[in-house]
Amino acid sequence: MNNLPPFYDPLLSYEDNYHQGPFGQFSHNDHLTIPMPPVINYFAGLAVNLPFGIPAGPLLNANYVKAAFAHGFDLCVYKTVRTTLHKSHPLPNVLAIHPQGRLSANIDTVLADTHYTQPVSITNSFGVPSFTPDIWQEDMADAVSAAGKGQCVIGSFQGTQGQGEIAKDYALAACLVAETKAPILEANLSCPNEGVHKLLCFDVDQVERIANEIKNAVPDRPLFLKLAYFTDDAALKRLLQKIGHIIDGISTINTLSARPVNAQGQPALGKNRPEGGVCGDAIRWASIDMVSRLAKLRDNMELKFLIIGVGGVSTFDHYQQLRAVGADAVMSATGAMWNPNLAIDIKNRLYADAKTD
Ligand SMILES: Cc1cc2nc3c(=O)[nH]c(=O)nc-3n(C[C@H](O)[C@H](O)[C@H](O)COP(=O)(O)O)c2cc1C
Repeated sequence: MNNLPPFYDPLLSYEDNYHQGPFGQFSHNDHLTIPMPPVINYFAGLAVNLPFGIPAGPLLNANYVKAAFAHGFDLCVYKTVRTTLHKSHPLPNVLAIHPQGRLSANIDTVLADTHYTQPVSITNSFGVPSFTPDIWQEDMADAVSAAGKGQCVIGSFQGTQGQGEIAKDYALAACLVAETKAPILEANLSCPNEGVHKLLCFDVDQVERIANEIKNAVPDRPLFLKLAYFTDDAALKRLLQKIGHIIDGISTINTLSARPVNAQGQPALGKNRPEGGVCGDAIRWASIDMVSRLAKLRDNMELKFLIIGVGGVSTFDHYQQLRAVGADAVMSATGAMWNPNLAIDIKNRLYADAKTD
């Protein structure tokens, strides 16, 4: 069992992680031997060594993206950005959680503390902070140009309430991300920490408007949507009927909401934040379920979008499970934060297995 320190330090503020990180093994990237694939893979028309990487969130800036590339994560999502400055929630932003059995999708109450034990599950609560575009555009462009052969940056973004029509703000954010030359765009429609109970991705008409605005604004870049876990197949089908032919891919899942409490039963993130998103091991069942249902609907509806499977991946077997149920690519946030060697581990296993076939 691996006990390496995470590359994002939960005890430090978001700003300190941004300026001082990444930490642990991600702080030194020399002398790494990355196993190379016997054949090159293609994802969204781009050559990738292995369709595996880190989803939106843990890679705060170009320094984090460069470390992830150096450690063999070939698809790196640059953390979600906005068209305006947006401050992070105060500490705590990350806590370990200890669900009794598997976490449900019904906002369970879970014990949260600072004891991170493998396999790690956490709650994260940041509020999707962003610097202003003049800061993140230059940095994202630096990250994009750091991609090695068979690697690529995906630029994640979202619109902000109160910036005029939300679909237009999404489109503006997409244009700003496209200017950095990020080859793939990802619109986050699933953030649970914005103070709204109904996530944007469950509002089918609004998602259709947003997808159309983005595609009209940036027609030349593959567009992925980041979706939360849908409990209901009928709702997922309705969504795909509206957007399945507009978009290029879906990345799913984001977190499952829960009520993290401390040992005294009080809200562990503070009384103003009774709920937090849970990610890591406790939600893998939901990512496998969502990807497998999405892949079946894709086939039945004769749609062509790609699927990025996200949620609870921390081993080679988890990578294989998501690929087996229909994911074209797989990503790990929590698993990678606590194991910087995860991509190397997966490649070692995959290519060793390929040689013995
Ligand atoms: C520290 C952290 C920050 C995150 N921030 C974002 C974000 O800004 N945008 C987003 O779409 N998802 C965000 N996520 C969610 C992840 O992209 C991912 O969907 C979720 O963590 C499930 O994957 P995991 O179980 O591998 O952690 C964040 C996750 C973590 C751990």
